[in-house]
Amino acid sequence: MDLSATLLQKASTDHSERERGEAFSAVRSPHPMKILRLAFALALASGITAILIYIAGVSQSYGNNGISEDDLRALVSLRSDFQKCVKANGLGLEALAGRDYCEVVIQFPPDTLPKWRDPKTGELEGLSFEFNLCEAVATWEQVRNSTTILTKEFIDALPNGWEEYAWRRINKGINLNRCENKTLCLEKLALVLPETPPYVPRQFGRCAVIGNSGDLLKTNFGEEIDGYDVVIRENGAPIQNYTKYVGRKSTFRLLNRGSAKALDKVVELDETRKEVLLIKTTIHDIMNKMIRELPIHNPVYLMLGASFGSAAKGTGLKALEFALSICDSVDMYGFTVDPGYKEWTRYFSESRQGHTPLHGRAYYQMMECLGLIKIHSPMRVDVNRVVKWVPSRSTLHAARIASEKVLRRFRSEDDPLGACTLVKKRHTSQVKSTTGPRNVAVKHQQYVKGATMYPLEHSIGDGVLCMVPKD
Ligand SMILES: *[C@@H]1O[C@H](CO)[C@@H](O)[C@H](O)[C@H]1NC(C)=O
Ligand SMILES: *[C@@H]1O[C@H](CO)[C@@H](O)[C@H](O)[C@H]1NC(C)=O
Ligand SMILES: *[C@@H]1O[C@H](CO)[C@@H](O)[C@H](O)[C@H]1NC(C)=O
Repeated sequence: MDLSATLLQKASTDHSERERGEAFSAVRSPHPMKILRLAFALALASGITAILIYIAGVSQSYGNNGISEDDLRALVSLRSDFQKCVKANGLGLEALAGRDYCEVVIQFPPDTLPKWRDPKTGELEGLSFEFNLCEAVATWEQVRNSTTILTKEFIDALPNGWEEYAWRRINKGINLNRCENKTLCLEKLALVLPETPPYVPRQFGRCAVIGNSGDLLKTNFGEEIDGYDVVIRENGAPIQNYTKYVGRKSTFRLLNRGSAKALDKVVELDETRKEVLLIKTTIHDIMNKMIRELPIHNPVYLMLGASFGSAAKGTGLKALEFALSICDSVDMYGFTVDPGYKEWTRYFSESRQGHTPLHGRAYYQMMECLGLIKIHSPMRVDVNRVVKWVPSRSTLHAARIASEKVLRRFRSEDDPLGACTLVKKRHTSQVKSTTGPRNVAVKHQQYVKGATMYPLEHSIGDGVLCMVPKD
């Protein structure tokens, strides 16, 4: 059993000196997360003020994680707004406080009937899901300042990038002996590997990410969707014959493995043939052949994503990640499983298996209540709906600073490159400026002094790789 859960139980049932003594000796673990949990457990028993004083003492004696009273207040305040927001916008969802200052549990109403079964265990999906707000606040903020497109400079800059990483992005790359023949690897990746990022943070204004859910057919969102600056679609989602529901515009399309192999069919979905195609997985010889021989003129890239753990593996979340890395604001359509859902359907085909719809729905609600996205669905048809109780900018800012300390992602506030765990200089003189006239994008580039931030995947050790200009 988890230490903090034990402590929680003890704190609420037994206040004897002996138990206290045990609890205090457990603080030997220097990890701030543990300390937070302990503090939280004790706070339940002895009131918050005492604990704040106690915690200040703990952080002093445990050196430099530097979690202050203000930091804890920021986390408490974030969670409190977050809980109100979920209540006000979640259509029956509720966020309960978890085991520490960071954790929340998002719960569906008890009368929700889960329909999805784990194909391996046969178990029905549960009705409550744990999320870590600290992790979410810190990671998503990072995404907004990063590029999510794989580039050559990124592979070049990784320690042993060609030997350790490049082959993983090539189908059957395992046979390439860690890119022993780099020319061959480069050849396979060349058609989808720009030298530097084709997009910069906040390059675009309002973006819409369109899922494939059948509930899109219950409303006519088409016109509304076409009003966005950028529309991002997924896999084989058709446009023709459905424009009333899903709009006509299509700027980007994110592809999983299966759809990417049918690249020739996918390019036909957008009649302008200008859609940018983003492949989530690997480049395949079949795709290279199609791009060369058909030929396919749409830009095609591989996506580079942050690690969000098991909560977030689907194409939908990757599409949101990409959108957040290039847009000011992100709205989502066609993803939700609203109360009373019968089964997971697609707007263009019969129902299908899908995966963990309730978990996904809860995760998206968390994103909405962290001010990252806005959800549109048949039950939220008003385009001007205000998401109530979204934590304010200043609350989010303070909570992010606190979260970075809790997660030990130390960075100095004044240093725009403070988040970089690895810094490399560009070979090329300058990134082609694609920012156009958007002021916020230019400002951001100035703030980071022309650097590009790349998320490092879990296998490479997390963190951020920063490419800084030549000079
Ligand atoms: C490496 O790959 C290139 C491109 O396919 C090929 O021309 C070359 O012969 C290969 N070199 C070796 C040493 O196998
Ligand atoms: C649209 O409808 C027409 C006529 O039924 C059909 O031939 C065509 O394949 C449909 N297109 C898509 C993308 O489903
Ligand atoms: C992201 O960039 C903005 C400026 O555009 C800055 O205020 C913020 O601190 C940056 N966040 C991180 C995590 O680097």
